[in-house]
Amino acid sequence: MVPSVHRRDFFKNGLAGLSASVLLGAAPMQPPGDRRPVVISSANGLRTVEKAMELIKAGADPLDAAIAGVAIVEEDPTDHTVGLGGIPNEEGIVELDAAVMHGPSHGGGAVASIRNILHPAAVARLVMKRTDHCLLVGDGAYRFAKMHGFPDTELLTDVARKIWLYWKETNSKLDDRIPPPPEELDPEVRKFFGESYVREHGTIHCSALDTHGNLGCTTTTSGLYYKMPGRVGDSPILGAGLWLDNELGSAGSTGRGEANLLNLSSHTIVEGLRGGKSPQDACLEACKRVFERNKVKRLQDAKGRPDFNVKFYCVTKDGKFGGASLWAGAEMVVHDGDSARLVPIASLFNEQPPEGA
Ligand code: GLY
Repeated sequence: MVPSVHRRDFFKNGLAGLSASVLLGAAPMQPPGDRRPVVISSANGLRTVEKAMELIKAGADPLDAAIAGVAIVEEDPTDHTVGLGGIPNEEGIVELDAAVMHGPSHGGGAVASIRNILHPAAVARLVMKRTDHCLLVGDGAYRFAKMHGFPDTELLTDVARKIWLYWKETNSKLDDRIPPPPEELDPEVRKFFGESYVREHGTIHCSALDTHGNLGCTTTTSGLYYKMPGRVGDSPILGAGLWLDNELGSAGSTGRGEANLLNLSSHTIVEGLRGGKSPQDACLEACKRVFERNKVKRLQDAKGRPDFNVKFYCVTKDGKFGGASLWAGAEMVVHDGDSARLVPIASLFNEQPPEGA
């Protein structure tokens, strides 16, 4: 199933922790170059950038490194915004979206609303490499993954099921459900909801610059909590949830996907680099467009500002990085070849995000 030369190369470099399906479609290792590598991700990607950097230093393709990095979060049942343990749709079924872009070939691939597959980003790489298409959805994406040897995985964990059930019991007007009394509520569910009901958009984005100056990126998510079945956000849409140009840089986003779909935000950021902006200013420009084009009153606060959040992350071909979000207090993760760290990102507004954003 997995080409043995790839397995040997990856294992030889002491990276045997990767599961076989994460390697499906990975390129052979190349001798590392002499340029300084940089890997960035959303704030949930500390282990992601560490793994990706380890692979890049060993000679992995930058996209393969990014996919292996996000696979750690796809496998993590405690991150309820990605892969295993992701919060399901309104019917209690986990549906995942993911996309990849590869700088040297300017290739891209994506899957949307895929069920029962643990590593959608790796499937997206195969869509890029083994089809003449960019996006497969739903059952077609699932069957394509199975054809290539991805195993079935139940993505709904017990905790995520209880969270979904509690949401249903407390929010559904359609049926006569009764939530448990507070003293009987599972502590994990109580922790998740905290004091208030939050309709979240999580996700992980990772962009990688390798030692040859080549870029790769991926965004992978379980999407909006309790979404309508079939709802697809920005993550698997090239230009919206991620974009790169191997001559300029790579960008990606987390947050309200609909806002990025309406603004092709990641493409906007990379084009901002072309226009001479710094990564941070290019990300702020994307924030500004989301704000200025958000005409829908029900998505505005009392001052007409978005009542949601989006966050952007960008790394340039020459290793500069930056990010921005609509609301203050957000961070990104950066690995500059020496160490991984969380860094604050700029914001369009000075205030903390409104509740629920
Ligand atoms: N940005 C992730 C989503 O909206 O699905």
